Amino acid sequence: MEVKENYQAIELSLAINELTGKTAWRSPSNIALVKYWGKYGRQLPSNPSVSFTLKNAHTNMRMNYQPGNGQVVLFFEKERNTAFESRIANFIKSIEDIYPFLQGLNLEIHSDNSFPHSAGIASSASAMSALALCLCSIERQVFGSLTDEDEFLQKASYLSRLASGSACRSVYPKLGQWGDHEKIQGSTNSFAIDVSDAVDPIFHTFKNSILIASAKEKSVSSSAGHQLMENNPYAAVRFKQAKDNLAKLMSAMKKGDIDVFMQIVEEEALTLHALMMTSTPSYVLMKPNSLVLIEKIKAFREKTGLPVCFTLDAGPNLHVLYPEYIATQVRVFIKEECQLYCENGLIIEDEVGEGAHKL
Ligand code: DP6
Repeated sequence: MEVKENYQAIELSLAINELTGKTAWRSPSNIALVKYWGKYGRQLPSNPSVSFTLKNAHTNMRMNYQPGNGQVVLFFEKERNTAFESRIANFIKSIEDIYPFLQGLNLEIHSDNSFPHSAGIASSASAMSALALCLCSIERQVFGSLTDEDEFLQKASYLSRLASGSACRSVYPKLGQWGDHEKIQGSTNSFAIDVSDAVDPIFHTFKNSILIASAKEKSVSSSAGHQLMENNPYAAVRFKQAKDNLAKLMSAMKKGDIDVFMQIVEEEALTLHALMMTSTPSYVLMKPNSLVLIEKIKAFREKTGLPVCFTLDAGPNLHVLYPEYIATQVRVFIKEECQLYCENGLIIEDEVGEGAHKL
């Protein structure tokens, strides 16, 4: 589908009192089932991806705006955070072609995360989608545009993508899909779409227990990781595999076929790590305990026949995925057999969530 890449620039021509206000959003993190790994141009994905939107892991962002000259002041968990502040200021500058009016505002931002800082959970998806949602609310308040809810979320997803690719999937409930795919109607590289109605409702009940194998900072940022795909010898095969896996996964999820779901989700996680191991320079992002936990999960599945599987981000922690109806058994297993291999016994319980909402 042909979609115009840029929204029309919105110019500033308003009285000062119309330019003072505030907004606040809560936006969740997400966990990819088919992974986005590799990008080109202005934050365009090399392959399509799909993720579960999470519920408990989220960012709350409050934003005050007033006439100014594009300054950003940011408080993260009540403390001024200049690193995060510059990232946001740079982003706002980078979207000057879309939102020139922001150069005539000063922003004061207060942000906090529901999940512990040291848990090794990527916060860019929740933070950058919360930021984009706040900016769209400002557009709505100042210019009276984006009154249609679908249009609002689409633009928020588009802006989120420009801030951090995976963030564009976080604004939607349950299941967000990003990236052009001939078998998925409405799919585009520009923004994510809501595909939650395209799957069997069993997948809306999925739980996600995050086993923290290591809470240390990642050894490579995802931006650097994406870049490594440019020279990865397996890149072309990978991009095709992701497309095929997305088609197979969506068809399995439509039928409620959890076996195929588990097979593809685990293959995607291990492929992501294999890609990092085969990049130059190469990275091993798993820790010994990540492997122990993978073995435990596989053995439990084999022994009990229960539909439980794992995925990983570009880091060592395991996201265990399973439907709600087996939650009690799986949590007993996690407590008895897995907790020992988690750093400080840390496990974070999450589940499929309803997407972003205004505070
Ligand atoms: C492994 O969205 O963090 O989580 O676009 O550079 O901000 P940037 O990267 P980011 O990459 C996330 C990669 C991933 C897989 C995924 O979420 O699809």
